[in-house]
Amino acid sequence: MTGGYAHSLSSALPKSVKIVEVGPRDGLQNETAVPLEVKVELINRLSQTGLTHIESGAFVSAKKIPQMTESGEVFQQIQRTANVSYSALTPNLKGLEQAIASNVDEVAVFTSASESFCQRNINCSIAESLERFKPVIDLSNEHSIPVRGYLSCVIDCPYDGETDPNSVASLTRQMLDIGCYEISLGDTIGTGTPLRVAAMLEAVLAHCPKQQIAVHFHDTYGQAIANIYQALLMGITTIDSSIAGLGGCPYAKGASGNVATENVVYLCEGLGVETSVDMDKLASATRYICQQLAKAP
Ligand code: HMG
Ligand code: MG
Repeated sequence: MTGGYAHSLSSALPKSVKIVEVGPRDGLQNETAVPLEVKVELINRLSQTGLTHIESGAFVSAKKIPQMTESGEVFQQIQRTANVSYSALTPNLKGLEQAIASNVDEVAVFTSASESFCQRNINCSIAESLERFKPVIDLSNEHSIPVRGYLSCVIDCPYDGETDPNSVASLTRQMLDIGCYEISLGDTIGTGTPLRVAAMLEAVLAHCPKQQIAVHFHDTYGQAIANIYQALLMGITTIDSSIAGLGGCPYAKGASGNVATENVVYLCEGLGVETSVDMDKLASATRYICQQLAKAP
């Protein structure tokens, strides 16, 4: 970059970001179920790309999310690569016990900034969910397993409408206080635009360090890349994305997939922000899973 504007823009951006690949979980949980060997092969290919964090499954109710039922087998069969953390969702102690038995590197608890989504997704109120997480975090600590937290509906809820940025800030702070090392803020239905994302992040960053905040955008209205750019400008350095933009949310009808990992890497490369991810190897994983799902890459 040469001009003064480009120079000042580049100095406002972080030098590097961490990408949390959620395709094998958030992506595949909302696609037609694929065979176990396809999940394993996808994760093995993603492991060769330079990604350092791959969310590989979820220990949740099989009745609610049948696509994730084989998560234990997935963790047994994948070829783990050094420097990659393989994580899973664990909504309660039952899930955590299965995750520990499957030798996961990291777990994640998840709640919502809106009551109705929380009830539909995990069958309890927001306050009850935080109480439910405490023993999960305690047992994870005993096993030295880091716990990530997800907060859904940080912009809008499909049932309750607009979410107050101050509620997002307060819940994010509470989740950090009970022991999550990082909170991923989810625009679950992808209705956010940069201005609203900025207002939400501003509220959160007034109470929480930016190093402990990640962003998780679904791309329903094609705004995810613009929203990520906004988050980068505000100093956020952890971005969730899904290979080939797979996914959606079973409890948020109409929500499209997560932002595609390829697009995030392309954006970051173009901005001079280091990702550690090899685009050619990523493209091979994209082609593989699109073939399996009979989707266009
Ligand atoms: P519940 O009904 O309140 O719990 O479920 P329960 O303890 O009464 O158990 C009910 C049944 O579930 C029982 O089976 C339990 O054994 C079973 P039954 O006796 O009826 O045969 N059960 C479990 N099975 C396997 N693993 C478990 C487990 N716990 C109970 N861990 C629960 C509460 C949270 C478990 C349930 O509501 C659930 O699994 N919900 C699914 C939530 C989910 O996976 N949602 C999608 C992921 S979140 C997401 O996509 C958003 C995110 O991407 C961010 C964003 O975009 O915003 C993270
Ligand atoms: Mg999601």
